Amino acid sequence: MTRRTILLHPDPRLKAKADPIGSVDTELRRLADDMLETMYDAPGIGLAAPQVGILQRMLVMDCVKEEDAAPQPMVLINPEILEVSEERSVYDEGCLSIPDQYAEVERPAEVTVQWMDLDGKTQKERFDGLWATCVQHEIDHLDGKLFIDYLKPLKRQMITRKMQKLKRERAREAK
Ligand code: NI
Repeated sequence: MTRRTILLHPDPRLKAKADPIGSVDTELRRLADDMLETMYDAPGIGLAAPQVGILQRMLVMDCVKEEDAAPQPMVLINPEILEVSEERSVYDEGCLSIPDQYAEVERPAEVTVQWMDLDGKTQKERFDGLWATCVQHEIDHLDGKLFIDYLKPLKRQMITRKMQKLKRERAREAK
């Protein structure tokens, strides 16, 4: 497994719509492994392929938070939201592509999602709690949408400016 570089906002690849995946092959399985490794290493609870520069509709997540609980890695290919609850919930979201920035985002509290797994089989599950927030956040990435797109323009611009500064600093350090 190889840890991949996570793209930082602003980046045109984070604003692009990712392409549907036709079938599961060795390369896709490797990408899923790499994405899980990259996510756990960050550490984070979700990562979408566009965040590592691959414009394909795949995401990984593991929202198990308890230290002693068994990990529950999930790989979702071509995920689609079939149903959302009327009930909504607010969560203080962050993103591996926008490090150290958090803001409250309101979304449906529960969602039913259908996807293809790494065996090419169709799966369907209803998510709630942190899993529901996470899966919606990651599916947004596949459509070029970031959590800051839900914020008021002023707040969004403030975060984007901080990120531009961070990217300049990192580019200087890399020289
Ligand atoms: Ni994110």
